[in-house]
Amino acid sequence: MNPIYEKLIKCRDIVQSKTNFIPKVALVLGSGLGGYADEITVEATVSYGEIEGFPVSTVPGHMGRFIFGYVGEVPVVIMQGRVHYYEGYAMSDVVLPIRLMGLLGAKNLFLTNAVGGINQNFSAGDFMLIRDHIIYNVPSPLIGENIEELGTRFPDMSNIYNNDLCDKIKESASMLAIKLQEGVYAQLSGPSFETPAEIRAFAVLGADVVGMSTGCEAIAANHMGMKVCGISCIANLAAGFSKTPLTHDEVQEAADAAAPRFKKLVTESIKRIGKD
Ligand code: HPA
Repeated sequence: MNPIYEKLIKCRDIVQSKTNFIPKVALVLGSGLGGYADEITVEATVSYGEIEGFPVSTVPGHMGRFIFGYVGEVPVVIMQGRVHYYEGYAMSDVVLPIRLMGLLGAKNLFLTNAVGGINQNFSAGDFMLIRDHIIYNVPSPLIGENIEELGTRFPDMSNIYNNDLCDKIKESASMLAIKLQEGVYAQLSGPSFETPAEIRAFAVLGADVVGMSTGCEAIAANHMGMKVCGISCIANLAAGFSKTPLTHDEVQEAADAAAPRFKKLVTESIKRIGKD
């Protein structure tokens, strides 16, 4: 068996030995957005440390556990804390939690993150519906022998951020009167923030925001047939647009400030996504 798939199955078996909860939606909480977990009716939690071989986030603001429970009536699994490629993990480990949530039954993946804003019409504190992505300097999670049990060798990515899910998020935002930008997410490796010249280059390429996660997770999920959607919280203006140096504290503070609106939007969106 493919060793990456074998590890995945072992991790799935460990989680299933602790809970038999079957989620419909998998939600990944980004920097500063981890408090969302307070919103749900919890049925079970599994710390990443309890799963042998599982990657554990080293980033402040990223806890490390799966929470199983309900948003309204919708069974969800929440990743409170993700791992990033820049932490030094193999790309197969970075996307292992995503694949695991897919194997546990989640047909829909809802990604969230904190980003730097490139589009000049965006302000810190805005939310952006992710319509598409550009990945630079981060390897594809599908490199290597294809895991046939998960998906095909050359998966189509033309509707990677699923239109139906995007519509449901837009309906939720308009119902709640929450401003929602739309655009293209650029994933770079980090961990340094970008240079002003890189940001100007990505603006020309068509990116609206920049971050260090998410794109590779969306690819792995799409490969295994999950429907994917995502919301970015614009935590800061990207390098060169802001008068002050960028810091992780600033990112967390902005995400904290946006958290109440974020919680409402995510909750309403999940209720709509979970209806189908
Ligand atoms: N660049 C990359 N990732 C980020 C940023 C940024 O400016 N802000 C939050 N995450």
